[in-house]
This record gives sequence, structure tokens and C-alpha cells, in this order.
Amino acid sequence: MMRAHRPHPIAVIRFAERLVAWQRRHGRHDLPWQNTRDPYRIWVSEIMLQQTQVDTVVPYYARFMARFPDVAVLAAADLDEVLGLWSGLGYYARARNLHATARQVATAHGGHFPREVEALAALPGIGRSTAAAIAAFAFGARAAILDGNVRRVLCRAFGIEGPPGERAVEKRLWALAESLLPERAIAAYTQAQMDLGATLCTRHRPRCGDCPLAADCVAHREGRTAELPTPRPRRDAPRRAVRVALIRSGDRVLLERRPPAGIWGGLFALPEIPSSCDDARAWIAGRFGFDVRPSRELAPLEHAFTHFRLAIQPIGFDVDATALACHEPDHVWLELAGLDEAGLPAPVRRILESAAGGR
Ligand code: ADE
Repeated sequence: MMRAHRPHPIAVIRFAERLVAWQRRHGRHDLPWQNTRDPYRIWVSEIMLQQTQVDTVVPYYARFMARFPDVAVLAAADLDEVLGLWSGLGYYARARNLHATARQVATAHGGHFPREVEALAALPGIGRSTAAAIAAFAFGARAAILDGNVRRVLCRAFGIEGPPGERAVEKRLWALAESLLPERAIAAYTQAQMDLGATLCTRHRPRCGDCPLAADCVAHREGRTAELPTPRPRRDAPRRAVRVALIRSGDRVLLERRPPAGIWGGLFALPEIPSSCDDARAWIAGRFGFDVRPSRELAPLEHAFTHFRLAIQPIGFDVDATALACHEPDHVWLELAGLDEAGLPAPVRRILESAAGGR
């Protein structure tokens, strides 16, 4: 059984509504590039804010605006002077592109920024997300942004797995971002996503207690904010191998609570067969008190953690219904039909989904 990946329309409406309501009370309203619809001021801020935090940007932005108050002045300036005012912000390609774009706007667009996302994205240094942010803030365009902060919010809120940056994941995130766009209050919604990602839904120690999305956030519900978004796998990450037992009685599988420390601490998962064990059936009989029969072969899978890759080989066993009477506090017989509601580590869920689909 697969989980539904498309958000429910009601959830979608409430996603934007909740963010906008939160933004009104708790978001940022007085940044120097806010409270304007001037695409020039908005564009410069968005470029400076790529890869750079708000606090760092503020003084640079003030100096830049004082010296280059509009796109015509910037277009007429020497690149060296632009680079001088950028000095210390880093990523100098941004300054070169800024200057090149000012010249294109002055020459090819009659001194006015284009209003369409596609035309904005055709200018040097303006990617799809930055184009959408400019169009939303300056022109109220209904366009989706997807910067690092928004990726993190979406991956967590909707439980999207796989490293953002991988093509399939990116495609899914863009489609989701588009599907969540509200009809109105697009500027507040756009700012809300940025602010939530920058202030509450941070990479480390997110403040879920204050988050307007917490009630429906998959990562929060399943205790997986540290796992989502999936980190980009390190090429040189060490690899650990484990075998896990998928012990099945009819439509139920045996899960065991993990120890509180270590990976998936406190969550239910498939019992891990000790690496020293060379007779898994005897180990199961000793640990759980019933005899199992070998079942069909199951596919291995890999899961990336920040510091290592885990290669998981599930081993399938069948057991009679009498085993269901064996109860201990840290063991459950999970009904495969109830997978959607269970808070499970992602790879365990994947193994169970393929087991459920296999019969
Ligand atoms: N990061 C990117 N754009 C931003 C904006 N408009 N406000 C705050 N942080 C941002």
C-alpha cells in the first residue's frame, strides 16, 4: 500500500491560511526591502539574500540603495564600483550578474523589469525561485518559490523523502509548491514561507511548539525533524549493514520498540538480528518464544543518514496466528492495513509497504 502523496485540498487551503495568519502576527514586517512594490528594490534584496542571512544583508543593502537608487543608476555604474560595495558579501558572481541584469533591463526592457516569471528568470542570476519571489512581491503574481528554507518546510510538513537536489525530489517539491499556492495574499504567503523556514523550521532544533503547521506536520508527528529533509548522501560516508526480521502472521507484522538512544530511538521498527547471529530462527525462538518458518526473499535497501549509510537486508519469516498472543510492552503486531497512521522510520515503512503489496 502506498501513502497518498498528494495533499488533500482542505489541508492545502489551510496550509496557506495558517501560514498567512502566522505571518501577520509573528513574521518579519520591517525589513528594508519590505513595504515596497518596487521590483528594483525587491530584486536587489532577493539577490543579496541568496546564501546570505538577513542580518548580514541589511547594512550592505542600505549602502547599495544609497549609491544605486534605481536600475538606471546601477546600469550606468562601473562594475568595479558594484563589486566594491559587494565586498564582504561573498559569491561575487551575484554582483556581476546584478550589474549585467541592470544593463539588460535598461536596454532590452526599456528600464522596466518584466512582470512575468519566465522573463524575469531569463535575466542573469535570477533563477526560477527568485523570479517567482520578485513577481509575487512586486506584482502580486501567483508564483511558487522554492528556496532552501521552503524545501525544508515542505519536506517536513509533507514527509517528502530523498535528498532535495535529486531530480525526482525537486520535481515533486515544485509540483507541491505550485499546488499549495493560495488565490490571494500571495506576497504575505511568500514572505511567510521564508520567515517560517528562517525562524521556526530551522535545520537544527526547529521550534515546533510555535509552528502553525505542527498539528499536521509529518516530520513532527513521526519525530523525524532531524531526518527530513534527507541529507545529501556523503560520497565517502561509511556503510553499515544490518539484517532485520520481517515476521509475519497473516496481515500482521511484528515490530519492536528501539532503544531510546541511537538511530530511530524509541520508535517501533523491525527487530534487528544481531550481527553475531548465524541462526536467525533460533534467535527469534529465544527472543520471542515462538517458532517461525522462512518466507520468500525480500529486497535489500539503503538509507542515508548524515554520517553513514545503512544497508538493510530484511529477512522474511512466517508464523502461525498463535504467535499473536505473545505480547510484551515493547512489541506490537502491526496490521499492514494500518501502515498509513503508524509513525515509522522511513525505510521500515518502505519495507512494510512492499511486503503489503507483495501479497
Ligand atoms: N530570504 C530570501 N528572500 C527573503 C525575504 N524577502 N525576506 C527575508 N528573507 C529572505
